Amino acid sequence: MDDTARDAERTLAIDIGGTGLKAAILDARGGMLSERVRVLTPRPATPEAVIGALSPLVEPLRPFDRASVGFPGVVVEDTVRDAPNLDGDWSGVPLGAELSRLFGVAVHVANDADIQGYGVVEGRGVELVITLGTGVGSALFLDGRLVPNLELGHHRFRKGQAYEGQLGEPARRRVGNRKWNRRLAKAIRHLRGCFNFRALYLGGGNSKHVCLELPDDVQLVRNVRGITGGIALWEH
Ligand code: BGC
Repeated sequence: MDDTARDAERTLAIDIGGTGLKAAILDARGGMLSERVRVLTPRPATPEAVIGALSPLVEPLRPFDRASVGFPGVVVEDTVRDAPNLDGDWSGVPLGAELSRLFGVAVHVANDADIQGYGVVEGRGVELVITLGTGVGSALFLDGRLVPNLELGHHRFRKGQAYEGQLGEPARRRVGNRKWNRRLAKAIRHLRGCFNFRALYLGGGNSKHVCLELPDDVQLVRNVRGITGGIALWEH
């Protein structure tokens, strides 16, 4: 394929979230060629229900040549290992192959925070990405290379709870934004002590609730990167 043909390729990028399913078309550099469309994640979020909801969402976005999918759980070689905030039936679902059959194009699937990370990192030193949404996602990069499926959200943070138990959406609703922000400040200190990152990025839908004075090495990033980072699955 020559450069012009490659530049013209349209990538369907999907972000499967615990609350919403989002999709858009990207150009070869990750720029958005369509608006971002969204539907609520069906509940219970079984594989059949979620895959069934994706078809009508993406049909109006055709044509596309390939697809990238961000998934809220561990994904190894386009197959799901688990999905803590969706449904227990996801373990072992070959999502890449199933969506490829459904859409008629090649499909790559990766962890949602990993994709968001590809959309934001600069490629220098240790960069950590934390996504704040229904769950807490994490992605670690060294000089732009990803350590996949970090899953910090399920590691112990404080008071016998994991980061996700303290900072996920159910916790934010329970304790309110002020307390949630105080917890986040503590989490940033813990993470700095653990990873000594050069930069920490806070993304995800709940990053809009962050009202802390952030240190220079911590920045908020726009949630749309969870979509635009999808182009990286075709580069890495
Ligand atoms: C999952 C992660 C995911 C995060 C954000 C967590 O519960 O274990 O894989 O990245 O939620 O969706």
